[in-house]
Amino acid sequence: MSAPQTELRNPEDLFVFTLEAVYDMEVKLVDALDEMSQLATNDNLSAGFAIHRTETETQVRRVEEAFEALGKEPTRRDNRVVDGLLEERDRFDAGVKDDELRNLRYLDFGIETERIEITSYEELLRIAKKIGVGEGVTTPLEDNLGQEGKTLRKLRGLAGKSTLDTLRDELSALRYPSNDGRGT
Ligand SMILES: [Fe+2]
Repeated sequence: MSAPQTELRNPEDLFVFTLEAVYDMEVKLVDALDEMSQLATNDNLSAGFAIHRTETETQVRRVEEAFEALGKEPTRRDNRVVDGLLEERDRFDAGVKDDELRNLRYLDFGIETERIEITSYEELLRIAKKIGVGEGVTTPLEDNLGQEGKTLRKLRGLAGKSTLDTLRDELSALRYPSNDGRGT
């Protein structure tokens, strides 16, 4: 699954190196989104993850198109950033005992992931511009970037919805209890 150690000597090498990590990230996120869709108990959040899972399958294909337009075999290189996020989620899942707490963390996990994906696609497109690859490479990556941006906006919208908002307030109250005289 992992590509061998690559020697990086120019922006073209860096582009492929980054694309391989993005490919790995998208593939891993298909399963992660599926799991989160099943475990989230907030209907909007669960539906949002299910929709983005389907979109992510399309994103995997678009990254493969970018490889093919470059004349390269699609190759995955272990993306340690997404591995770390998934490991954090595993640790959280192992300890969480409250559905609303899970919903809240999953929402933030989704937002974190979208931000990382957006940064990766922006990086790829910046390098693409520098090395002058064709539209066959850049269009699928631009399409993915656009879709990630929409998903981030949706998740942020969800973060403003009443149920999760209420939970945030409750959590803040737990963390910063008002001075009601107890314990003094
Ligand atoms: Fe994605």
